[in-house]
Amino acid sequence: MASVTSLTDSVQQRLASALSATLPEAADADPLLRRSDRADYQANGILALAKKTKANPRELAAQVVARVESGDLIKDIEVSGPGFLNITIGDSAITTTLAERYADETGRLGVPYAATPGTTVIDYAQPNVAKEMHVGHLRSAVIGDSVVELLEFTGENVVRRHHIGDWGTQFGMLIQYLDEHPHELDHKDAQISGEEAMSNLDRLYKAARRLFDSDEAFKTRARRRVVDLQAGDPHTLAVWQRFVDESKIYFFSVFEKLDMEVRDADIVGESGYNDMLAETCRLLEESGVAVRSEGALCVFFEDIKGPDGDPVPLIVQKSDGGYGYAATDLSAIRDRVFNLKASTLLYVVDARQALHFRMVFETARRAGWLNDDVTAVQLAFGTVLGKDGKPFKTREGETVRLVDLLDEAIERASAVVREKAQDLSEEEIAERGAQVGIGAVKYADLSTSANRDYKFDLDQMVSLHGDTSVYLQYAYARIRSILRKAGEVRPAARPELALADAERALGLHLDSFAEAVAEAAREYAPHKLAAYLYQLASLFTTFYDKCPVLRAETPEQVQNRLFLCDVTARTLHRGMALLGIRTPEKL
Ligand code: ARG
Repeated sequence: MASVTSLTDSVQQRLASALSATLPEAADADPLLRRSDRADYQANGILALAKKTKANPRELAAQVVARVESGDLIKDIEVSGPGFLNITIGDSAITTTLAERYADETGRLGVPYAATPGTTVIDYAQPNVAKEMHVGHLRSAVIGDSVVELLEFTGENVVRRHHIGDWGTQFGMLIQYLDEHPHELDHKDAQISGEEAMSNLDRLYKAARRLFDSDEAFKTRARRRVVDLQAGDPHTLAVWQRFVDESKIYFFSVFEKLDMEVRDADIVGESGYNDMLAETCRLLEESGVAVRSEGALCVFFEDIKGPDGDPVPLIVQKSDGGYGYAATDLSAIRDRVFNLKASTLLYVVDARQALHFRMVFETARRAGWLNDDVTAVQLAFGTVLGKDGKPFKTREGETVRLVDLLDEAIERASAVVREKAQDLSEEEIAERGAQVGIGAVKYADLSTSANRDYKFDLDQMVSLHGDTSVYLQYAYARIRSILRKAGEVRPAARPELALADAERALGLHLDSFAEAVAEAAREYAPHKLAAYLYQLASLFTTFYDKCPVLRAETPEQVQNRLFLCDVTARTLHRGMALLGIRTPEKL
């Protein structure tokens, strides 16, 4: 199925050709078309053009209007104010373009693919081995997952990378401890739950820490382990692998609860770049991008200074020869650019790491690994706050366990579903409760712009009113129920029918789905899609209040309204899927 040209694009094209017919020198002038409250659209571009060509704007506008080919598309076009154009779309054109979207069997609703897709490597959902996941990891996973969906939907070639924290000095202590207590991670059952895996790791971590802090000899042995690990000693690596495997059991259980696909092959943690670290340092040092300073290999920046005014360097290699987070990230850039052939590197990481990425990206540019054609962007997200507006902590001041939060969201959502449930079994309530609860958490995260902090407020998240996923899910389920009730009567587009205001408003908004998706994908801004969907559900609610569907006046009107219902349902379903959120058929 070919893509569908939106009404906006069609109007834009006709205005542009009328403009260039009027003023041949203005062949590429933008008519600046917007949706408007006065008419369906307003075009403001003629004002600037008149100024440039010293013409009278209202006269120029009138000349353009005379040349616009209206056809069935434009019902009315008139000059207003100092030289704006007010444009009203014909009802039949609205119904006809929606019918084209509806006929798209691929489920893309006529949304086109990008003309020139690139390859984006996206770094997201990157928890740390042997550690509990927290709300920061939630944000990276939820935002990243939605951006993956959005980009893939526009035809971009997407490579996912879960840059888990699985390397570094902290493993010396853990490995040494497990080596001395080898049965601590033995599993009685073949299959253990994520919860059990995490509690095993937690127990081990605490025991190792206790020993490390109290026993000098153990401390020395643990430090030696770090060296063995970096050197790739097979036995040390085998013990280390046990931690990674145990952690993956836990990670996968959380991602599953989040209803999110994370593939093992896409998990390439910090350890995955170990072989490249020495070479990365050599390349940086030889090219002069990095210099030795007190034994450490450093990169300096003009504009990055500490509180005392001294330059803050990026340390690529420490004076003891050890490599850190920066060396790993620089090596990952080389891998992503030269092996994975990325055109864009996208990092969905906490805003608090912004300085790190600024320095890493600038270093890579100086080294020539990044340039104008191969760029890197941090999609930086803000902090999750508690209801008190402070960073989210338990009452005891500890980090909140992500699993506890998700379970609570599911529990609250199940209560909401149960209360409203009419014909749902216990099993269905549990299933919907999970879809609503997880949807609520994701939507709360995705509906504000990523760089902002947001309050984690479960009461608000599972509310049926306001800008929540539950509201959107109910709108969808309501439509599905109308369509079921229609029974034998099938939705059908009836372009010959005049439309009520609420129908026109709904139809015009439905038509702009492709633009909403394209903008959200281009700007890595799922919140723009969320806002579009919320408005869609609101417009549907108004339509449903004002326009009886199954009891419309004529059988044709019933069909056409069912058709509007169905296009709305499909758009909600597709849009929510792009946010990673389910739309249950019944609620
Ligand atoms: N594991 C890190 C953390 O928990 C995030 C990794 C971000 N990605 C990267 N390429 N540095 O903070």
